Amino acid sequence: MKKNGFIFDLDGVIVDTAKYHYLAWKNLANKLGFEFTEEQNELFKGVSRKRCLEILLQIGGVTATQKQFDHWMGEKNKEYLQYIENMDASEILSDVPKVLHFLKEKNIQMAVGSASKNARPILEKVGLISYFKTIIDGNNVTKAKPDPEVFLLAAQELGVRPQECVVFEDAVAGIQAAKNASMTSIGIGDAKILAEANYNFRDFTEISLDFLNAVIYE
Ligand code: G6P
Ligand code: MG
Repeated sequence: MKKNGFIFDLDGVIVDTAKYHYLAWKNLANKLGFEFTEEQNELFKGVSRKRCLEILLQIGGVTATQKQFDHWMGEKNKEYLQYIENMDASEILSDVPKVLHFLKEKNIQMAVGSASKNARPILEKVGLISYFKTIIDGNNVTKAKPDPEVFLLAAQELGVRPQECVVFEDAVAGIQAAKNASMTSIGIGDAKILAEANYNFRDFTEISLDFLNAVIYE
């Protein structure tokens, strides 16, 4: 079936913001008196801010009142916003614009499907927002990945059926969400971690235009 819609996750797919999320969570963990490793950070990819803090506190064995929980969630986001404040096009991951440009030329509809509540300002800062017909983010969804809600909403806004959609994802929960939405998935990152994806690439530099054509018309 011809693929008429391409949906991109944001963090770790379009821009390398995963490092900023990690830094902000790590600093909060340190402030609370424990370590938070990059390996543990894998669990945070594609996961909402609230759920991330729940997992972080579990890792540190910290119990929190609702007031403390809200305060720490705010602190983390405040620090993250400082990191992304000066983001510009130099932080777009390699060869992402090549793929966006190619799909646009082919009149393929494109969307962003992200758990982040900061998706819009980031896309504006890096100058890519105009490529996307719709942005479905943490402000629009009630159910987190691996629930398919985010991608199904994106497909609906694009006016294409789920089976006609291809999803780029760097998170295990995101690949599962694509699968649960009956969409074709392309894992960006470690193929061992993203083994459930239909296709795997280390990054966009490995994706050829011939491959994209084959996926569109497969
Ligand atoms: C993305 C990232 C997660 C992050 C989530 C919420 O899915 O991969 O690591 O926790 O967005 O981001 P936010 O910007 O709303 O805190
Ligand atoms: Mg991601």
